[in-house]
Amino acid sequence: SHRITFGPLVAAIDQGTSSTRFLVFNSKTAELLSHHQVEIKQSFPKEGWVEEDPKEILQSVYECMERTCEKLTQLNIDISNIKAIGVTNQRETTLVWDKETGEPLYNAIVWLDLRTQSTVESLINKTPGRNKNHLKHKTGLPISTYFSAVKLRWLMDNVDEVHQAVVSHRAMFGTVDSWLIWCLTGGKSGGVHCTDVTNASRTMLFNIHTMNWDPELCKYFGIPMEILPSVRSSSEIYGLMKISASRKSGALSGIPISGCLGDQSAALVGQMCFQDGQAKNTYGTGCFLLRNTGAKPVMSDHGLLTTVAYKLGRDKPACYALEGSVAIAGAVVRWLKDNLGIIGSSEELEKLAASVGTSYGCYFVPAFSGLYAPYWEPSARGIICGLTQFTNRSHLAFAALEAVCFQTREILDAMNQDSGIPLTQLQVDGGMTSNRLLMQLQADILCIPVVKPSMPETTALGAAMAAGAAEGVSVWSLNPEDLSEVTSEKFEPQINPEESEFRYARWKKAVEKSKNWET
Ligand code: G3P
Repeated sequence: SHRITFGPLVAAIDQGTSSTRFLVFNSKTAELLSHHQVEIKQSFPKEGWVEEDPKEILQSVYECMERTCEKLTQLNIDISNIKAIGVTNQRETTLVWDKETGEPLYNAIVWLDLRTQSTVESLINKTPGRNKNHLKHKTGLPISTYFSAVKLRWLMDNVDEVHQAVVSHRAMFGTVDSWLIWCLTGGKSGGVHCTDVTNASRTMLFNIHTMNWDPELCKYFGIPMEILPSVRSSSEIYGLMKISASRKSGALSGIPISGCLGDQSAALVGQMCFQDGQAKNTYGTGCFLLRNTGAKPVMSDHGLLTTVAYKLGRDKPACYALEGSVAIAGAVVRWLKDNLGIIGSSEELEKLAASVGTSYGCYFVPAFSGLYAPYWEPSARGIICGLTQFTNRSHLAFAALEAVCFQTREILDAMNQDSGIPLTQLQVDGGMTSNRLLMQLQADILCIPVVKPSMPETTALGAAMAAGAAEGVSVWSLNPEDLSEVTSEKFEPQINPEESEFRYARWKKAVEKSKNWET
């Protein structure tokens, strides 16, 4: 059969909170050639607990790889053209496994999980002046349920298997990137136990200035350093894919895994935000606005995080970012669907909301996992207020979309205050950006244009770029001149700023109520 000749191809595994994807790009044009996506189950064993099955996560990666390979074969594209694979992932989610058996010792504790709330509160109470920013000078992060260290501590204290494995030197800790890379490079027979600087910077055990695990932080949380993965740059060869020939994805064996970035960092790279001051907002399960601050870590005075944006090569400098993290964005859609049953799909949500075009004074603060940036209030809970006899599910649908936009407005305001230079437009990406009503609403509520790239898979693209640019692979140049212009669509604000301010002020009132709902 006739085979189309392509230049080298690069691929990415994108393991998000709600789904896993495998995607293959043409390295010359950045065109997406083929991909496959599989949803991930979440379990909620107790109120506030969120878990995922590490084996299901791994299985979903194999399935996505297999199906994508099949699709490539149908397109007559030779799989051996794939020269590098990047990994990008939901960050902070915490796993411990046994290096001898290769078995996970507990479910993955997902970043949204609140089981460590009381631990976090008592840690904060013990700091001088009850200061949640006590460790911020080293980590860039507030003490919060969000980051890995407290989840790992919980596992060591509450799961006997984990405790035993730690004591007998068989335990390995990792975020999802580490788990996948270890398994895909051979697992218990020689798998590579590593992570990259962006993922490490979300654990609260990593010093973002020295770019190493920090012995004092490890001592503070009581974490033995020997269970931590080695920390590498975001673009270098970590190891080669080792997949048994009996699997359909066996054809990928031998390909280097040479890119690794937390998903929000990968989106920043995929959106080509390489300059100081450039920013992007990604609408996934949560919503994350990152602004590149160049070679220096900038500490926020307005509730934002300081995080490692990327380090694209062992000898390349690290770049930092300010980040505004919102816990619940796309997750609110899933909640309306699975918990309330008032919609069957996200398309239906858009239709319902569009049918009324207003929330009719209803405000919905989806603080299911407390409030993240800029508040960091673990005890906040979700509220819906402003209901009348007239309110129906369409208004609620509209209020849910508006909530995503208001939360973004809050972090954009904080970002503008911290940097002193207001953003004049917002680059966006992620699953929810296919919702045109949401994009228009976002422009209306920010009072600046919202710009969306025509290829929405920027997270995967970023990881693939890092993989293709790695030393020893080098099929992708990251020279700004060589990067093709991204074609995009722009949403201009359409309502008047007074109307926008009025609604935002109401939202702020609702947030106050969600913070103080118990008192
Ligand atoms: O910090 C959590 C973040 O990395 C999760 O991203 O896309 O799964 O919402 P996402």
